Amino acid sequence: MATKLAVLTSGGDAPGMNAALRSVVRAAIYRDWNVVGIARGFAGLLEEEFRPLFRRSVGGIIHRGGTMLRTARCEAFATVEGQRQALAFLERIGVDRLIVIGGDGSMAGARALAEAGLPTVTIPGTIDNDMAGTDYTIGFDSAVNTALQAVNMIRDTAYSHERIAIVEVMGRHSGHIALSTAAACGAEFVLVPELTFHMDDLTAKLRRCRYDGKKHGIIIVAEGVMSGYELAERLHAVTDYEPSITVLGYIQRGGAPSAYDVTTASRMGDLAVDIAAEPGAGHLIAMRDNRIVAVPYADIGDTKRGLDMQLYQLIDELSM
Ligand code: F6P
Repeated sequence: MATKLAVLTSGGDAPGMNAALRSVVRAAIYRDWNVVGIARGFAGLLEEEFRPLFRRSVGGIIHRGGTMLRTARCEAFATVEGQRQALAFLERIGVDRLIVIGGDGSMAGARALAEAGLPTVTIPGTIDNDMAGTDYTIGFDSAVNTALQAVNMIRDTAYSHERIAIVEVMGRHSGHIALSTAAACGAEFVLVPELTFHMDDLTAKLRRCRYDGKKHGIIIVAEGVMSGYELAERLHAVTDYEPSITVLGYIQRGGAPSAYDVTTASRMGDLAVDIAAEPGAGHLIAMRDNRIVAVPYADIGDTKRGLDMQLYQLIDELSM
């Protein structure tokens, strides 16, 4: 019987997910496998929403943000009962392998299915870039470039009006987007959920800048620390600054993927199919030392990818 592969996208969408889907579908068909796409992540497994995918089904999506299969966060699937139901459904439609494109929560779901006997492979896809086991997740580069473009425009007006601009970026639990955006735009200060924020550090930095003749400044704050509005209020309460506030929000998750994300997604999708072809319960496709490799779920710890503290120091050093 021909191999039948199911593929789904899960969790928050990320630019490049469509490129990964295209790669998975075409690499699998190249091997003469049958492919089905599951709609709306693990929710689609429980609601039995699927369709066959062919080469042409994934035409014209390489450059599109979002995910053509749609996505969801599904609490019912986190239960043993939900997982049993999903496995029974996949068995009924003849699926013998599953590729999941998503973040940590999605990998946990894929891993649970692998432990229950269905071979699964996870392709890391989230703008947060905080997954355990991999140095890179698809979508991060695009999200940072989107944020950077916006901040560069905000800088023009902050400079002209000699103002402090606060820009709130995404990252409920992770400061990677904030950190990389801050480094790329030359921000004066960055707040990330991983590090405790002290208002004194911020006011001291702004004082030093002012003393040095700098009349404008950019502060990047990850949403997980506090909102841009709260930060502005707290700063205004102890200084004479009246910062402008911009919340970038979901524009960071949408939009066309960068060249790096499309290429990485294409390579990861292809390797995911190769690994799915081999016997073995489950793997994460990971970026390690700039190489794309497969890592067994069992070898991945719980520790999320840490912040680059050197970059954090560099932002402070170079923005004086
Ligand atoms: O996709 C990642 C992310 O954008 C996080 O930065 C954020 O914490 C979360 O998703 C918010 O997603 P939602 O509003 O869809 O719950």
